[in-house]
Amino acid sequence: MPNVTVIGAQWGDEGKGKIVDWLSSRADVVVRFQGGHNAGHTLVVGNQTYKLSLLPSGIVRGTLSIIGNGVVFDPWHFRDEVARISAMGVTITPENLAVAEQCPLILPLHRDLDGAREDASGAGKIGTTRRGIGPAYEDKAGRRALRVCDLAHLDDIGPQLDRLLAHHNALRTGFGIAPVDREQLIAELRDVAPSVLPYIQPVWTRLRDAKAQRKRILFEGAQGVLLDVDHGTYPFVTSSNVVAGQAAAGSGMGPNATGYVLGIVKAYTTRVGSGPFPTEQDNDMGERLGQRGREFGTVTGRKRRCGWFDAVLVRQAIAVSGVAGMALTKLDVLDGFETLMICTGYRLDGRELDYLPAHTADQARVEPIYEEFQGWSESTAGARSWAELPAQAIKYIRRIEELTQCPVALVSTSPEREDTILVRDPFVD
Ligand code: GDP
Ligand code: IMO
Ligand code: MG
Repeated sequence: MPNVTVIGAQWGDEGKGKIVDWLSSRADVVVRFQGGHNAGHTLVVGNQTYKLSLLPSGIVRGTLSIIGNGVVFDPWHFRDEVARISAMGVTITPENLAVAEQCPLILPLHRDLDGAREDASGAGKIGTTRRGIGPAYEDKAGRRALRVCDLAHLDDIGPQLDRLLAHHNALRTGFGIAPVDREQLIAELRDVAPSVLPYIQPVWTRLRDAKAQRKRILFEGAQGVLLDVDHGTYPFVTSSNVVAGQAAAGSGMGPNATGYVLGIVKAYTTRVGSGPFPTEQDNDMGERLGQRGREFGTVTGRKRRCGWFDAVLVRQAIAVSGVAGMALTKLDVLDGFETLMICTGYRLDGRELDYLPAHTADQARVEPIYEEFQGWSESTAGARSWAELPAQAIKYIRRIEELTQCPVALVSTSPEREDTILVRDPFVD
């Protein structure tokens, strides 16, 4: 199967967008299969910076881009993102962008609920992007969601709206929010529908045809395995499955469609939002990593929490999502650190663990066991070949491979598209 699935192997923001953009020159189709506009993928091409949240990163090169059924879809955001990226000179038409008919819609009422819940949650606050992702997935599973295909049937949505609003109005009353203005919601949907309708397709047929023609399909994950609703640091996670297996269900292809699973791994660790983070450096070291790595959220502008590389977490993420090879990103951020720490295990109540326990209280209490690693003073920034890397940086990569039991396929050394070292082409069987 000549396909590649790209997923984040930490808490998101590993550099998936850059790698997908780079790989999309080798792909015929790029597919998003989960998440929504909670994602923030940054692509740097020459002097242009593209920030994508809902559109697949392949769109910037004009590669056929598909938003699969597993994505929760905010039509107003879609309209605005298409306009913003088009204004930057990218051609976006129904020829190169298709949206699955089955995507659940994110509505203003989902955003309201996301925000109200966060505000009322006290210490249990998740620190979501407040974009309505969780409530939209809940309504999908609750069988009361409006879907993209409803935008072509706005005269028929009455019964579905009854179910949806009965649920939301009860919750809104509890949170002290006014009930949903049904007529206004319908009017807003009528207003936005023409911006989406041209892109709506039974995308599974395009994927079926692409498969028959042995086209190369690149699946673009959002978030990271530690934010997966099953495998992540629950409840401080997002509301979708992030692991590679979701690429099949979230696009309408069979389970072997995922092909080579490429895990994107940052050379250190970051996290946005609340929740346990064993190797967090809430100190000058964390500040230094954050400043060198420009660690501010693309979606919310929040400062990302920073810490040392955690081999335990990455090894676990690789195992639970079937990663075959890694793209190691942001190696250049570590240039000039005298000493680097790598977490190789945890200590909990006098015991040593080689995995992250499932309970959030235990996750918060584990103490990292560190290995000290001598840094390098030379620059790796912009390196495009192995030969340009200092010996000590190569040693760091080799140590990460050993500890995570996973080979490195790509190394990224700057935000720029071409500053990438290819070790093994993920598209070659
Ligand atoms: P994503 O959500 O996984 O696509 O990652 P984001 O785009 O949210 O965050 C990654 C950030 O790091 C972006 O600003 C990228 O431009 C930048 N970036 C990606 N790869 C590298 C790299 O190798 N070195 C440096 N310095 N920055 C990188
Ligand atoms: P990309 O694709 C980093 C985090 C939020 C919060 C939690 C739940 O750019 O890697 P949600 O709005 O999804 O209900 O928030 O998940 N989160 C991300 N963190 N990168 C992302 O996406 C994220 N998408 C969601 O900060 O902690
Ligand atoms: Mg991001």
